[in-house]
Amino acid sequence: MLQPGHKRPGCFTGGGMGLSYKMRLLILALGIGIATTGGLFIKSLLKPESFGVYGPYRAAAIDEEAQIPIRHATNVSCYSCHPYEAKIHKAGLHKTISCEFCHGPWADHVAGSKKVGTLPVKKDGEITTLCLRCHNTEITARPHEVIKTVAMPGHLESQKVKLTHNCNQCHHVHAPLKYINRAKQITESAEKAL
Ligand code: HEC
Ligand code: HEC
Ligand code: HEC
Ligand code: HEC
Repeated sequence: MLQPGHKRPGCFTGGGMGLSYKMRLLILALGIGIATTGGLFIKSLLKPESFGVYGPYRAAAIDEEAQIPIRHATNVSCYSCHPYEAKIHKAGLHKTISCEFCHGPWADHVAGSKKVGTLPVKKDGEITTLCLRCHNTEITARPHEVIKTVAMPGHLESQKVKLTHNCNQCHHVHAPLKYINRAKQITESAEKAL
C-alpha cells in the first residue's frame, strides 16, 4: 500500500525530473526536426541525379533501356533465307507463333545479312516438352478456347499409339495439322471411292 503523499517511482508528476512540460515538448519537437532534416539530407545524397525530371522515376533509365541492343526480330526477317519453312509456317495454324519462340533469338544467328551462329533445333522428347509449354491441359490459367490443349497421356491413348511417341511424329512442327488434314483427305476420298 502507498502512503498518502508518497511519490510513485518513475512517475512524472511534474518537476520530478527537473524538466517542465514545455521543455519536454521542445526536446520532442527538436528531435523530430533533426530526424527530418537528417532524413532529407541522406535522401538527397542517395537520390539519383535524373530522378523526378519527368515524374517519380529516373529519367536516365529511359536512355539506358533504349541503348540495350535489340536481340529479336520478326518472322518476316527469317523468311528470305528460309523460304521452305516460311511457306509451310505461313499456311498452317502456327502462323501466329514467332519462329524465335521455338528457335531462340535472331541476334544469336544473324548479323547484318550473314549467318553468324547456330540456333538450337529441338529433337525427340525436347519437341514434346516444347509443344506442351503451350498445349498442356494442365495449364489451367489459360482459356482453352484460345489455344487448344491436350491431356497427356490421354491424347496418345486416344490415338492408340505407344506412349513413347513424340508430338512431331504426327504433327508437323511448322503447320501442326498439315499431315493430319492430308490423312483425313486421303481417307475421305478413299471412302468416297468405295
Ligand atoms: C512451334 C515451334 C516452332 C516454330 C514456331 C517454328 N519452328 Fe522451326 N522447327 C521447330 C522444331 C521442333 C524443328 C525440328 C523439326 C523436327 O525435327 O521435326 C524445327 C526445324 C526448323 C528448321 C530446320 C532445322 C534443321 O536444320 O533441321 C528450320 C530452318 C526452321 N525450323 C526454321 C523456322 C522458321 C524460319 C520459323 C518461322 C517461320 C520456324 N522455324 C518456326 C519448331 C518450330
Ligand atoms: C541471312 C540469312 C538467314 C536469316 C535471315 C535467317 N537464317 Fe536461319 N539459317 C541460315 C543458314 C545459311 C542456315 C544453315 C543452312 C540451312 O539450314 O538452311 C540456317 C539455319 C537455321 C536453323 C538450323 C540450325 C542452325 O542454326 O544451323 C534454324 C533453326 C534457323 N536457321 C532458324 C532461323 C530463324 C528462326 C530465323 C529468323 C529469326 C532465321 N533462321 C533467319 C540463314 C539465315
Ligand atoms: C508458343 C505457343 C505454342 C507452341 C510452343 C506450340 N503451339 Fe501449337 N498452337 C499454338 C497456337 C496459338 C495455335 C492456334 C490456336 C489453336 O488452334 O489452338 C496452335 C495450334 C496448334 C494445333 C491445331 C489445333 C486446332 O486448332 O485444331 C495443333 C495440333 C498444335 N498447335 C500442335 C502443336 C505441336 C505439336 C507443337 C510442338 C511442335 C506446338 N503446337 C507448339 C501455340 C503453340
Ligand atoms: C499418334 C499421332 C499423334 C501424336 C503423337 C500427337 N497427336 Fe495431337 N492430334 C492427333 C490427331 C489425329 C489430332 C486431331 C484429332 C481430331 O481432329 O479429332 C490431334 C489433335 C491435337 C490438338 C487439337 C486438339 C483439339 O482440341 O482440337 C492438339 C492441341 C494436339 N493434337 C497437340 C499435340 C501435342 C502437344 C502432342 C505431343 C504431346 C501431340 N498432339 C501428339 C494426333 C497425334
